Amino acid sequence: MRVAILLSGGGSNMVRLVQSMTGDHPARPVLVLANDPGAGGLEKARGLGVPVSCVDHRPFKGDRAGFEAALRDALAPAAPDLICLAGFMRVLTAGFVTPWQGRMLNIHPSLLPKYRGLDTHARALEAGDAEAGCTVHEVTAALDDGPILGQARVPVQPGDTARSLAARVLVQEHILYPAVLRRFASGDRRVLHLP
Ligand code: GAR
Repeated sequence: MRVAILLSGGGSNMVRLVQSMTGDHPARPVLVLANDPGAGGLEKARGLGVPVSCVDHRPFKGDRAGFEAALRDALAPAAPDLICLAGFMRVLTAGFVTPWQGRMLNIHPSLLPKYRGLDTHARALEAGDAEAGCTVHEVTAALDDGPILGQARVPVQPGDTARSLAARVLVQEHILYPAVLRRFASGDRRVLHLP
């Protein structure tokens, strides 16, 4: 299975996904695609020997359809079977998502369905939640929705800030996403619960 990874930032989840796809793993990374030429993940992907590409979203201001057409064009030569969103911070419309439904995964830093969107950790702390975490799910046209494939729970500690909580959740993201990808690429859609 050929996997394209889309990102916007540092790409730590991308690194873990790429590093996991070796040996008897049923998938291989074929492209890392960013929407920001300054995304740190592009350099990391090059270092890992994965082809990279970039579609800067900024020239497409007000033209989501144009941006998504450019994304499709950038993906096409790599012929991916599966797309993994890994810190990709652009909202994708139904026009892009629907043809990929069942073949596109995302990681989100909350225990969905709680806290779709941004500032998930601050919102969990504000609500006084005892636990936070992360979710890997299939992408559908609705934001941070779609069938859940795995979740990892992280206890909130006294004195936690959004930053400290995010750092501990990220450690779990790095375990959860590769584990779910391996299962998914093997045809296993059961929900994985960590720890
Ligand atoms: C991760 O925490 C990921 O869950 C989050 O962005 C971060 C990317 O970090 N994604 C979202 O918020 C998507 N809505 P990374 O670039 O180091 O993998």
